[in-house]
Amino acid sequence: MLNFNYAIPTEIFFGKGRIDVLGRQAKRYGAKALLIYGGGSIRRSGLYESVTGILEENGIAFLELGGVRPNPRISKVREGVDICRAHGVELLLAVGGGSTIDTAKAIGAAVYHDGDPWEIVLDRKKIKNVLPIACIPTIAATGSEMDAIAVISNEETKQKLSTSHRGMFPKFSIMDPAYTFSVPRDQTAAGTADIMSHVFESYFSANKGAFLQDRLAEALLKTCIRYGPAALDEPDNYEARANLMWASSLAINGLLGYGKEASWSVHTIEHELSAFYDVTHGAGLAVLTPVWMEYALNADTVDKFAQYGVNVWGFGPGGDPYALARAAIEKTREFFTSALGLPGSLGELGIGDEKFGKMAERVVARKTIRGFKPLDRQDVFNIYKAAL
Ligand code: NZQ
Ligand code: ZN
Repeated sequence: MLNFNYAIPTEIFFGKGRIDVLGRQAKRYGAKALLIYGGGSIRRSGLYESVTGILEENGIAFLELGGVRPNPRISKVREGVDICRAHGVELLLAVGGGSTIDTAKAIGAAVYHDGDPWEIVLDRKKIKNVLPIACIPTIAATGSEMDAIAVISNEETKQKLSTSHRGMFPKFSIMDPAYTFSVPRDQTAAGTADIMSHVFESYFSANKGAFLQDRLAEALLKTCIRYGPAALDEPDNYEARANLMWASSLAINGLLGYGKEASWSVHTIEHELSAFYDVTHGAGLAVLTPVWMEYALNADTVDKFAQYGVNVWGFGPGGDPYALARAAIEKTREFFTSALGLPGSLGELGIGDEKFGKMAERVVARKTIRGFKPLDRQDVFNIYKAAL
């Protein structure tokens, strides 16, 4: 196990009716908020009414920035920065999915940056300070409500990049699983695949000896396998939604990655799909993950995949590790396509091979994928090709 610092500063208020803390908590950070939300789900669910009512009752003035789209755009961030500067906003309150929360984080950082907001996405070292962020997540997926990352797209350059800063950890997040009852089937499935992918990115690491982190990871995977399909069958099953929601936060808040090095290979490869084709992040991950697993299977990694089969899928131990590993990978593919109804190929996402070369170049230009299975440009290209 490698050395690490444990520090997760976000305060979580989890459970039914926890919105009752909103007024008191928000007031700790300021008297003027910018309420940020997406394309309308919070209006349809009534959450918009409850949040604005609480802000009014507590004397917190607020402005609004609605219309954040999935794969959130830098243009929306620019809009938000202008509002914050013009009105002296003190707190950013994101109510919605990961796209909404990430937009809030980027606005919070860009307000303190003199140049264009895209510069703080291109180079996280340019972030000096971040306005306080508070979140009310409405979907179990990215874990953005408890991490310090924002992923933003540039519609002009067709780039989708992540940035981060310690100040981007939300000050607090109010997580009521009932807010996720209305998440549609495809987004529930994609969110579950995203949570699992976050776990895989830490679990499949070259570092050995982080026994505890690996068992935690397996527990989160089993939670998704149990409750993802349950939430599809019964959208207002509180137990299923609650377990998925908490799993989404724990999968990426640092807990699983402490003491290990993770290469985030599949995420890096997927972000190019979203950048060029605007696909749903979790759907792209569901296609790429089993293909990456097959590609990564070799003499160095086989035991880890076999362990995954035994501890997560319940295969009997012993026997040929390659057979166990291949069966575990096949189970993963089946789970995404059959149990969650997600696409099984890039073709199903409407993606052809025209841009594979360019996408592969961008992946390796952005970072060197080392660790569990080092990948060069040709490897990334081969993975796209095998996913067609
Ligand atoms: O926009 P609205 O109307 O709210 O509808 C959204 C949107 O259409 C809908 N939705 C959310 N909650 C709902 C709901 N519909 C009905 N009822 C509800 N309760 O779901 C759709 C997708 O929303 P989005 O915010 O895009 O989903 P998600 O949370 O999956 O976020 C995806 C974005 O986060 C990035 C992804 O790349 C993608 O851009 N990621 C962020 C990460 C982070 N900050 O740590 C890490 C992840 O790996 C990921 O890259
Ligand atoms: Zn993700």
